Amino acid sequence: MALLPHLLVTMLLALLLSPLSPHLWAAQGHPLYMRLPPGTLQVLSAQGTQALQAAQRNAQWAVKRVAMEIQHRLQECQGHGRPRLHARLSQDQPEPEPCGERRPSAANVTRAHGRIVGGSAAPPGAWPWLVRLQLGGQPLCGGVLVAASWVLTAAHCFAGVQNELLWTVMLAEGPRGEQAEEVPVNRILPHPKFDPQTFHNDLALVQLWTPVTPAGPARPVCLPQEPREPPTGTACSIAGWGALFEDGPEAEALREARVPLLSPDTCRRALGQALRPSTMLCAGYLAGGIDSCQGDSGGPLTCSEPGPRPKEVLFGVTSWGDGCGEPGKPGVYTRVAVFKDWLQEQMSAVPSSREPSCRELLSWDPPEEQLTDTTQLCAFYARRCAGSEGACARLARQQCLQRRRRCELRSMAHTLLDLLRGAQEVLGPRPGLRRLAPALTKPTASLREPARYPAREQRLHAGSWAAGTRFPKRRPEQRGEASGCPGLESLRQKLATLQGTHAWILQVPSEHLVMSFHEVLADLSSKTLSGLFRAWVRAGLGGRHVVFSSLVGLEPATLAHSLPRLLAQALKAFQAAVLADRGPEGAPGGVG
Ligand code: ARG
Repeated sequence: MALLPHLLVTMLLALLLSPLSPHLWAAQGHPLYMRLPPGTLQVLSAQGTQALQAAQRNAQWAVKRVAMEIQHRLQECQGHGRPRLHARLSQDQPEPEPCGERRPSAANVTRAHGRIVGGSAAPPGAWPWLVRLQLGGQPLCGGVLVAASWVLTAAHCFAGVQNELLWTVMLAEGPRGEQAEEVPVNRILPHPKFDPQTFHNDLALVQLWTPVTPAGPARPVCLPQEPREPPTGTACSIAGWGALFEDGPEAEALREARVPLLSPDTCRRALGQALRPSTMLCAGYLAGGIDSCQGDSGGPLTCSEPGPRPKEVLFGVTSWGDGCGEPGKPGVYTRVAVFKDWLQEQMSAVPSSREPSCRELLSWDPPEEQLTDTTQLCAFYARRCAGSEGACARLARQQCLQRRRRCELRSMAHTLLDLLRGAQEVLGPRPGLRRLAPALTKPTASLREPARYPAREQRLHAGSWAAGTRFPKRRPEQRGEASGCPGLESLRQKLATLQGTHAWILQVPSEHLVMSFHEVLADLSSKTLSGLFRAWVRAGLGGRHVVFSSLVGLEPATLAHSLPRLLAQALKAFQAAVLADRGPEGAPGGVG
């Protein structure tokens, strides 16, 4: 790249123009220092603040889940409260009662709307089971709450990205516009026979990290109790935030429509061989005009079951179409009723019958020996072993640890990629040395003397932000028999450990959750083989300041690539700073 010589020339000019500080001349050679310009520091600060917020949200989610488990366990042990509540956390009973109940006002509003193109606006809270599936915070698909911790959606929504760590679910808002809750995804279970070419079996179950609270606005729809579906011509409802017309903009507010179910013959005639009546049904108007569209996928097609208390039952999940609302081309929905057994089986599976999810392995994050010995997480790998000793059990422990390491890598890689993508968006494809050129001034006194600051590289620990924290030595597991509630004590210990691990970020009030990079000073004599320069970084979080050494690039591409590392190191430095404050074991030094 011809830009670096240009940079050096510019820099030399700048140095010639300003009197050199004696601090610029080190003992060996003549290192020159360069500061990243304010614009780049701003980008870093904005990205760092986002990373901090994400770290705090993850910590809150991890703690909340265990706190809920404790609460449910207590309710169980005290005999009041429904045992189902605890079961929901891991082994959910499908369709907890009541299901499919709409608020009376919402039900009326929907009926009043007849025709729509792409949908008419739905009142807040009208579809309490409708959720949004978000990938990296961006809504991608709809979904339907079918039990307290299960969402049913279309398998094609996860094409390519099945990493549960990247997905969250936005639950329904309340009838008075109460804010929707965002819940992390614990597990994604696409139908094993989903065919991305034909969209055959286009169904996936998503397990929520924490179940919805019965008191909240989100509530499950009913699942069909038998394979039978309502007769052709039944007017059913669809809803979603999808496009208003083909290739059109996404709806800003939730929209809904009524569409009649069509017969398999009509569907086949309209859509040809692509329509597989065994797993797909179609609904809509042959005249066109009313249909679901892109972005509505995974959302519900529900029909109301008459009775003293009418219930909405989920018969279809929005899957595909030929255009949107085109004459003669009704929308296609996965037939939920034919998957009844699969759904039942997945939602009632015992936790140890499934490999632990990455979110489970990462959020609990105990040291390795605790992970394999005292938690249920690894039980899956040992399910065929005769005892807890011997080669089989050892192998099982190894497999569990390997899985956690893979999860850590995945989490780190994605976090870094996300940050990188964010950085590139702000910096543009070529951050440009022109933006760096104004920085060619003298280093400030604060960073002029590298020797005063910790030169030690902060090792990047893969995994959650809170990873790498030391765990206190614990007494052997007490099983909580003292409180007459088996397992309660271990849950409490788990909560205490989690709170300790994440304390560094949990204790920062949200208004102080701001990272600001004050200065990044690169040593121009220290270029590595990968084109990076050794740098000293001064950053602040709330009232706290840290200084650490890192590597930065000074060309557009290398700079963008070095930002994630810088951010990850800043987070680790803050974590170390908080821990150092808390006790003599914490890492001292480098913290102001
Ligand atoms: N496949 C679309 C999605 O991913 C849903 C399309 C539904 N189209 C229709 N004409 N009904 O959102």
